[in-house]
Amino acid sequence: MEWLTIYIRDKNQIDHLIQIPNEASYSLMELLKASELPILGTCGGMALCASCHVYIHSNHILPEMKEAEEQLLDSLVNSETNSRLSCQLPVGDYLDQLIIEIADL
Ligand code: FES
Repeated sequence: MEWLTIYIRDKNQIDHLIQIPNEASYSLMELLKASELPILGTCGGMALCASCHVYIHSNHILPEMKEAEEQLLDSLVNSETNSRLSCQLPVGDYLDQLIIEIADL
């Protein structure tokens, strides 16, 4: 699969579709940012800033969280059980048809 479809759910619960290249060397954060979505990725993907925080609205099976991601999400006031740091999600087939919402900073 060369391209992955990602849905971005906005505050009005409307999904917007983007397509990103299936490039394993990138994280989801990097390709969302390249798609000009409001993802800052300030720390460059080090799990230090949370400016790539998203909520996962689909039932995808995602890679388990590492300790750094879990700790940072635990420290956020707007963290939910479906929160993930998009910089910690490597791009791959498993992301196709993912539905996310970008969290407020
Ligand atoms: S880019 Fe900083 S935590 Fe993800």
